[in-house]
Amino acid sequence: MKENFAIVTGSTKGIGKKIAEELLNKNYNVIINYSSDDTAYDNFLKENIKYKDKIFCIKESLDCYDNVINFCNEVKKITTHIQVLILNCGITEKSLFGNIKKEAWEKAMNVNLNCPFYIVQQLNELMDCSGKGRIIFISSVMGKYPHSTSLVYNVSKSGVISLSNSLVKYFCEKNITVNCICPGFIKTPYHTNRSEESYNQINKKIALHRFGTVDEVASMCMEIINNQYINGSVIDINGGYDYF
Ligand SMILES: NC(=O)c1ccc[n+]([C@@H]2O[C@H](COP(=O)([O-])OP(=O)(O)OC[C@H]3O[C@@H](n4cnc5c(N)ncnc54)[C@H](OP(=O)(O)O)[C@@H]3O)[C@@H](O)[C@H]2O)c1
Repeated sequence: MKENFAIVTGSTKGIGKKIAEELLNKNYNVIINYSSDDTAYDNFLKENIKYKDKIFCIKESLDCYDNVINFCNEVKKITTHIQVLILNCGITEKSLFGNIKKEAWEKAMNVNLNCPFYIVQQLNELMDCSGKGRIIFISSVMGKYPHSTSLVYNVSKSGVISLSNSLVKYFCEKNITVNCICPGFIKTPYHTNRSEESYNQINKKIALHRFGTVDEVASMCMEIINNQYINGSVIDINGGYDYF
């Protein structure tokens, strides 16, 4: 069994991918995860081939309790000791209030909020209690400044902030910090189909007039990992969103 394990959910693309790469760079063994896009996983492996012995992948859609149990059972076959647990996986849902279907509501709540909770609960006993244990949730600026066009997403991401805050007391007894990052608009495949006009409209709402980069979010994550005194924080990284 190898020591120094980190887990990043939803990590073959975008923010999760960059965080996983930073962790590999810092000598962690990293359990990565995705649900369906094998090509993205192949690319991840190719781009990080020098770390191939440190990369462990669990392909599992983290969208329901049973799949979380499968995922956690696979984790337990790989390691008995986790230092860093990053709950990054998230999906968006764009229906307006009147049109939100039950299935869409439940899927977004499951992926964004319920499954991160189940994962933390299932892996709790594996977490490092030496002072290096870290749990980091990835919420969103939408969890704080809700848009009517992404209602379920906003609610689930507000829940993630509350979940993170609610776990601080429990985990401080185990010497594990719990924090939440709220990224603003970050350039990732998530925004692939966005029009030029939409980019421009969003940029007008950001004081820095640009989307953030995955490097900017990942470096915040690494700071939280390096610094034990950052605990119970909800950290915005959004270029100054709605700051006018
Ligand atoms: N990008 C932004 O502007 C932004 C802003 C605020 C917050 N966030 C949050 O940051 C997180 C990452 O966003 P991102 O933009 O980096 O996303 P992304 O580029 O769309 O990447 C998503 C990753 O998660 C995986 N994934 C999706 N659904 C999954 C599922 N059900 N089970 C397991 N893996 C799954 C994807 O792989 P597959 O395609 O193979 O499933 C992929 O590896 C999310 O929680 C998002 O809400 C993003």
